[in-house]
Amino acid sequence: MQHFTSVLDVADPMGLVQKALAIKKDPFAMKALGQNKTLGLLFFNSSLRTRMSSQKAAANLGMDVIVMNVTQDSWQIEMEDGVVMNGGTAEHIREAAAVMGQYCEILGVRSFPSLTDREADYNEKIINAFKTHAGCPIVSLESATLHPLQSLADLITIAEFKQVEKPKVVLTWAPHIKALPQAVGNSFAQWLTQTDYDFTVVQPEGFELSEKFTKGAKIMHDQNAALEGADFVYVKNWSSYYDYGTVGKMEDWLINQAKLANTNNAKVMHCLPVRRNVVIADDVLDSKSSIVIPQAGNRVYSAQAVLQEILENA
Ligand code: CP
Repeated sequence: MQHFTSVLDVADPMGLVQKALAIKKDPFAMKALGQNKTLGLLFFNSSLRTRMSSQKAAANLGMDVIVMNVTQDSWQIEMEDGVVMNGGTAEHIREAAAVMGQYCEILGVRSFPSLTDREADYNEKIINAFKTHAGCPIVSLESATLHPLQSLADLITIAEFKQVEKPKVVLTWAPHIKALPQAVGNSFAQWLTQTDYDFTVVQPEGFELSEKFTKGAKIMHDQNAALEGADFVYVKNWSSYYDYGTVGKMEDWLINQAKLANTNNAKVMHCLPVRRNVVIADDVLDSKSSIVIPQAGNRVYSAQAVLQEILENA
């Protein structure tokens, strides 16, 4: 694996899940692998889980870590080529990425979409600029359109909790008060369609994810019908892809215990952070249905499997 920016960078996604599960059993076994190696973590946006789990994963592998909140701590970076830099940006991505790539063996980058310019967002300008100019492996810590470290953790969690070989997994849209990226939904769909699980995406009319990522999934618009018999219910809001960035507040899509009545005693997942009683009700989050905490715990083994794979192939 050279870079890790989507499932397409992974030769054997389910093999990587098994690798992460093995790492979880013995997390310090490869402590010497990362000795004298540095992981740089660059955040253009806020984070709790990605930041801490990536640091923990690197420490488990013996790596040093440099963390930078780019928009607060660094010079403002210019992303456009060929511009006269006589405005607010003081340093171009061509120099910034190349310099940081000399300080670090691996760079992780988090950069959210604008949600105003779909073409620019879906061209993944920032993560691709790092891939082009940094000269070292790039790990997505959530890009404009995908969150592969989250999706790998999600598949690890399903592997741990599933009671049948091929569970029914439903990704359901949920309401929110703000316009959120499509990245978690896109990425979960992209990874799940690589499995032989029974996979459904249920989304309101006008809030369909791009078919580029959901191709191969069953697509539905009736949430109650989709949830019937589900073993796993993955809950996530995203703003509209087609009416780009439009927020959806349909409150009747909130997931509560009543919604789970016709599932197969489904386990409920969410990437977190989650707004209680907007997206998922307390009666789910505080019940045995919820596996959001072990799901977040698996972010460490997701990151560690990816870092280990890159270091082993360096
Ligand atoms: N799920 C996730 O990526 O969480 P953070 O935004 O807190 O990193």
